[in-house]
Amino acid sequence: MSLAASSAPPSPAPTSVPLLDVNRGNAPLRDEIVAALAKVVDSGKFLFGPDVQQLEKSMAEWCGTQHAVACASGSDALSLALMALDIGEGDEVICPSFTFFATASAVWRLNAKPVFVDIDPRTFNIDPAKLEDAITPATKAIIPVHLFGQCADMDAIGDIAQRHSLWVIEDAAQAIGAKHRGRLAGGIGHIGCLSFYPTKNLGGMGDGGMLTTNDAPLAERLRLFAAHGMSPRYYHKVIGINSRLDTLQAAVLNVKLTRLAQWTEQRQAHAARYDELLSSRFGSQLGLPQTDASCHHVWNQYTIRVTSGRRDAVKAQLAQAGIGSEVYYPVPLHQQECFRSLGYGPGTLPHTERAAAEVLSLPVFPEMTSAEQDLVVGRLGEAMAATQRKAA
Ligand SMILES: Cc1ncc(COP(=O)(O)O)c(C=O)c1O
Repeated sequence: MSLAASSAPPSPAPTSVPLLDVNRGNAPLRDEIVAALAKVVDSGKFLFGPDVQQLEKSMAEWCGTQHAVACASGSDALSLALMALDIGEGDEVICPSFTFFATASAVWRLNAKPVFVDIDPRTFNIDPAKLEDAITPATKAIIPVHLFGQCADMDAIGDIAQRHSLWVIEDAAQAIGAKHRGRLAGGIGHIGCLSFYPTKNLGGMGDGGMLTTNDAPLAERLRLFAAHGMSPRYYHKVIGINSRLDTLQAAVLNVKLTRLAQWTEQRQAHAARYDELLSSRFGSQLGLPQTDASCHHVWNQYTIRVTSGRRDAVKAQLAQAGIGSEVYYPVPLHQQECFRSLGYGPGTLPHTERAAAEVLSLPVFPEMTSAEQDLVVGRLGEAMAATQRKAA
């Protein structure tokens, strides 16, 4: 090695760490992305261009399905799935309350009723042991959410769904590439819903979503509903919506997809290192994420539990110390103002409510360095000590 190469200045020690730095992921791909965008600009095919079809093909492979249908967002994917399954007035759909709003708002907007089921506190995912009690003659579907990148217990959910003839719509917005007993997220239930929101493991430069399924007639229905229910042109079979993925967005995603496997491995390495560092430093003082042995976790979030009512104080201390963290999600859906009429009182979903009070997600983005991770752990230690002193 030349002297010049070995004497390159060491990168300065970090003094702050963001929760996520999308620019670090995008910067090395800038030229490829700009070239892909230029190609679309020159083609003039801003909708239904070849990049959209290419992405659909790739997403079908990533989810192990025969079909994939692009749409405008993960939220639209959920709505379209429900529409294509004819879910509406008088129907009930079971989902977790500990999830992003879109999981349940899609149900409500179709005049169906979301029925919230508590989570397994180990995984933060819907607890299959509590599902059957929530099933009524009006139940039509279950939406398991693979929260933070770890699959829900799809074997148990699939068994129950089959016994009660229910549809299973996977909300795999946070879990592209995750697996449950070797089966890929998005390809286990009847329909899978993906999101390309910029913070997702495959994040676009704007909104985007994808539906995946092995059922050819269902794929056609999803496509129909995403295109005003129109077939052929200006003849409307059903009342659909306009939900398309722009070719420009698909072009960006096709470039970024070439790095997704590597990014996922980096996330997994960071999570394993956090497990080691945090367990040796904090022991049982902190609740570390628990990975189900049957899951291939893709770590969209690395989420710890801070108990004893100190979570918000720890988060504030971290922010002051330049460390990004976030609470996904502070108010469970059954306690949201807009769902008050559903009548869920406090304490009805105890594990969900406890998780909402304790969870804290730490930076786990692929490009994070070991020095940054050490800083997060160090500052977390200071925040824990400071909040303990205040509480004492
Ligand atoms: C679990 C979950 N479901 C649905 C969505 C909705 O996806 P989008 O933001 O693409 O509409 C998101 C992401 O925001 C999500 O995290």
